[in-house]
Amino acid sequence: MKNIIEIKDKIKNFDRIIKVSSDKSISIRSVLLASQAIGKSNLYNLLESEDVINSLKAIKKLGIKYKKIKNCYRIYGFGLSGYKLKKKINLNAGNSGTLARLILGLLININKEVTIKGDKSLSKRDFSRITIPLKKFGVNIKSKNKSLPVKISGSDFLRPINYVENLGSAQCKSAIMLAALKAPGITRIKAKKSRNHTEVLFKSLNIPIKIQKKKSYDYIEVKGITGFNGFDYVIPGDISSSSFFIVLTLLATKSKLMIQNINVNNTRIGIIKILNKMGAKIRFKDKKNYRGETLANILVNSSSNLKGINCPENLNSSAIDEFLLIFLVAAKANGISNFRNLGEMNKKESPRLDIAINFLRDIGIKVQRNKDNIKIYGNPKLELNNKYIVKNFRKDHRIFMMSCIAALVLGGNFNIHDVDSIKTSFPNFLKILSNLGAKIKWKD
Ligand code: S3P
Repeated sequence: MKNIIEIKDKIKNFDRIIKVSSDKSISIRSVLLASQAIGKSNLYNLLESEDVINSLKAIKKLGIKYKKIKNCYRIYGFGLSGYKLKKKINLNAGNSGTLARLILGLLININKEVTIKGDKSLSKRDFSRITIPLKKFGVNIKSKNKSLPVKISGSDFLRPINYVENLGSAQCKSAIMLAALKAPGITRIKAKKSRNHTEVLFKSLNIPIKIQKKKSYDYIEVKGITGFNGFDYVIPGDISSSSFFIVLTLLATKSKLMIQNINVNNTRIGIIKILNKMGAKIRFKDKKNYRGETLANILVNSSSNLKGINCPENLNSSAIDEFLLIFLVAAKANGISNFRNLGEMNKKESPRLDIAINFLRDIGIKVQRNKDNIKIYGNPKLELNNKYIVKNFRKDHRIFMMSCIAALVLGGNFNIHDVDSIKTSFPNFLKILSNLGAKIKWKD
């Protein structure tokens, strides 16, 4: 069977309750932290996608044991100096920027050289954002043209650093925070706002951390420590994976959806705030606190009354993986939408800003671009009749999934390539779509 699907029917109305896959950011962070804790950790509902499996393979190569017992991955950590190597090794991070970047922070005291590699897409991404701060800790770290492969040899003489993180990258901030655990003294980071799962996890594991929140930046202090204990964690659902179904429901007709048990951490729900400003009425129900994260059920209804938005820039980082979907809503909204300073989108698994603009123009939407700012001229009457082929040249999971949603709400006949890409973050994406009534045909 080819790695291509065909969608040529719009989705019919539905009224359902679903669950989506577990949070990828928290799955990877919990595996990495468990591998450096003292004693055993139990991780329940871990996302079983390629990015997370690659994280498990990486800690195994670093000498950490784990086993799966029913719904639980039990990881046996040996503390912050617990990665022990007899010889140099390579670690393959596959498609995962989060794994590659965060694990580098944990390797600053490794006893042998480790080379981090990745797939074609990851090998095109910027690693200088990690190698520059990590070098300051006193570690020997080298990259080829600012990208992978990156080679790191740990040091016994680490020092804390002061660093200004200006990209709004949680991966960069988190790599520095993890490294800071190993450097004696206090590391200070002035970090542009980004998702804060690492900070929340540190607090819930009683790892000393001080955070002062200002308007656009957080001032974070992390103290070098001797160790922290193993822990239990139940991973909640992923808001980024939920977003495909939120937008599907919003743009479908007369449909209603509840998505259960999602992590609606304030640093991740930019999409909800943006869509609600556009006239959606997405609500959270049964909110609760779990280890410092906020969990809720998400309720969404179809809406034929969406309007354009002048998107506040301060929501960019909390919606950074969701703009492909937000643009789709802007394309169907009444009026013009403006989005500014979205250059970071082009630093993801593929150049998403460039690809999104081409996609919107291909489906007949007027888009103006000025550097990293875009203006989308919405058309609520947009209905497609032609044939569209979506070739996803860097096999980006989010481009694939966004194209499926577009096909199901806009009509036309879509052939969408690289189905396999969903294994990165959301392996049961198509199954959930089919259960909602989507007609998906595999090409053979
Ligand atoms: C992530 C942070 C974001 C996001 C990525 C996951 C994380 O990347 O795009 O999908 O888990 O920390 P940046 O930190 O590069 O913005």
